[in-house]
Amino acid sequence: MGIVLQASVGAFVVLFVLAGCVTPPAPVAATSPSTPAPSAPVAAETITPPAPSTSPQPPLGAALKRGVNLGDALDAPSEGDWGVVLQPSDFVAAKRAGFDHVRLPARFSAHAAAAPPFSIDAAFFARVDWAIDEALSQGLAIVVDVHHYADLMDQPEQQHARFVGLWSQIAERERSRPRGVVFELCNEPNGKITADEWNAIMADALAVVRTTNPTRAVVLEGLGWASAKALRDSLRVPAGDPNLVGSFHMYQPILFTHQGASFMPEEFDTRGIVFPGPPAQPLEAGPGARRHAWAADWVKRYNEEPAATNPSSPARVIDELDVAHSFAERTRLPVYMGEFGVIENADPKSRAAWTRLVRTEAERRGFGWAYWDDGGAFKIYDRKSGEYDPRMRAALMEP
Ligand code: BGC
Repeated sequence: MGIVLQASVGAFVVLFVLAGCVTPPAPVAATSPSTPAPSAPVAAETITPPAPSTSPQPPLGAALKRGVNLGDALDAPSEGDWGVVLQPSDFVAAKRAGFDHVRLPARFSAHAAAAPPFSIDAAFFARVDWAIDEALSQGLAIVVDVHHYADLMDQPEQQHARFVGLWSQIAERERSRPRGVVFELCNEPNGKITADEWNAIMADALAVVRTTNPTRAVVLEGLGWASAKALRDSLRVPAGDPNLVGSFHMYQPILFTHQGASFMPEEFDTRGIVFPGPPAQPLEAGPGARRHAWAADWVKRYNEEPAATNPSSPARVIDELDVAHSFAERTRLPVYMGEFGVIENADPKSRAAWTRLVRTEAERRGFGWAYWDDGGAFKIYDRKSGEYDPRMRAALMEP
């Protein structure tokens, strides 16, 4: 999920709902005005998932099975602005924790000229090279992702050539890298960009990458902040390229994973949401959530509905993953869940329960994944001690 600026909050929510990222308000069965007794809470940490509803898919071209996002570093306006400066020890720790790759969100657009040939700053490029070298030296694959290109979302026509120009340089510079270096063309398209514009921009960027990197794995995602639905419904995959990967980001249920996130709009202010719902005691929606019908209704259903239909439920997770899987069935391309995660505001038990469920169900569908993230608000890694949170590590790595 991207950072949301105050000015775009309304548009963001509308888009998010339209994109299927938030379950639109479902009709609530008429109930008595008194609060119904919630059903007993389900034991949180281990959830027995329903039988897989879909068949496995082909394995990923590159070794992208279990990864972690190195977030809040090169995706910040400048590295260090958000409190994270990457260290060699981050790559050592990721390897030791059992990951086979890292995803490197990098804000190339903030470190490149505005006019042709859109030259990328030498120092920033050197830093990306360094991160690639560190990953490879640990035997980790690395996904280099163009992150937070907000102007491309707001002015797709004006920024189209610049975006392709950035990829021309990145691809040329990294052309001799081994296949463990993977390119992800652009993170979480959102804002004003339409599906036609997005598909045209992706096709042009891919074409320029292919002139220097004919067989490198390239990751593509769809609109709606990389929603599963957009991956399934609106991403046009360029034909005849066997080295493409379809990606989506999984933060459903979003009011659970982003509870109290400072960068989200006011209706995300209800804290204390557990996974799975319903809670043992009804939870009062936050003042912000109460001002937005969809969020207030979500909290009501979360309080009232049994596990089978509760909006904070395994069923909600499974539905989302099945949407992404239908892309794999149609295209026969590998699917990569390039971001999923829960904010630290959630209670540790719920956090681990959701993470384990999403991870195991993604793996049952053959998806590679990368947790968001090591170091920001969703973090699972303590930079001071150099250790991953044992409970979250177990949720990611153990049966
Ligand atoms: C954004 C982060 C955000 C995360 C979860 C990422 O794509 O870059 O800033 O914390 O999604 O919303």
